Amino acid sequence: MSEPEVPQSTLSADGIAAVPHHVAIIMDGNGRWAAARGLPRVEGHRRGVEALRRTIRAAGEIGIRIITIFSFSSENWSRPAAEVGELMGLLRRFIRNDLAELHKSGVRVRIIGERAGLEADIGRLLIEAEELTKENTGLTLVVAFNYGARQEIAGAARRAAEAVAQGTLKPQDITVDTIAGFLDTADMPDPDLIIRTSGEQRLSNFLLWQSAYSELVFVPANWPDFDRATLEGAIREYRQRERRFGGLSGAAAAKTGS
Ligand code: IPE
Ligand code: IPE
Ligand code: MG
Repeated sequence: MSEPEVPQSTLSADGIAAVPHHVAIIMDGNGRWAAARGLPRVEGHRRGVEALRRTIRAAGEIGIRIITIFSFSSENWSRPAAEVGELMGLLRRFIRNDLAELHKSGVRVRIIGERAGLEADIGRLLIEAEELTKENTGLTLVVAFNYGARQEIAGAARRAAEAVAQGTLKPQDITVDTIAGFLDTADMPDPDLIIRTSGEQRLSNFLLWQSAYSELVFVPANWPDFDRATLEGAIREYRQRERRFGGLSGAAAAKTGS
């Protein structure tokens, strides 16, 4: 069987993937960005949408194939109702204003997270974004909205249990691949690189299953200040890492002759 074709632009001379295929971003620090300037938190969120536009453009130019962004967590409902309302409004406006442009540039939009309980018009916008762009072959933009990884994994367990109850799945046949197949990210490769802005060093219930072997890069910049240079800096750091997936490093393997 021949090797799958990898676009040349993503490979350096020694064949090591120079550009991560899938980058996931925890866009954090909007509130602190605003507070530092004496502005209301919502202003940080608004500027965060601009940073998102820049980042999507840069990701496409750099040759990243999939970008997943954490835009609203299952736990963010615990914020004051006014802030939640503003975040919902920003999502609505982002899809209404930017969808046509994203579609024109070949971006395929996917949404992960819980749809139940969202306002009906938001549910419709999410479907519209996915439907309009589903045949596109450019950058895939995965929006994690009303997303929580534990909820996602619990949902996968529930679906596996339902399949067992219906007799289409045997308990002894449940493997890692079975569970992965029931996640929202079923047909997507795991993120190679996860970036979190604002200096916080935690995952906050983001892609817990899929991040098993992701490289984590924490950048001090708050999300509204994120730009192409910050993204490239994170990718440079990623390139310094040696991904072992539980095996041996290249040097150690050579020494043991394996
Ligand atoms: C990230 O910024 C946006 C969301 C979580 C929706 P924050 O709103 O968390 O900003 P900080 O962390 O309070 O500064
Ligand atoms: C994670 O940021 C969620 C998003 C970026 C959407 P939070 O600001 O909600 O995370 P914690 O509460 O600081 O862990
Ligand atoms: Mg935060």
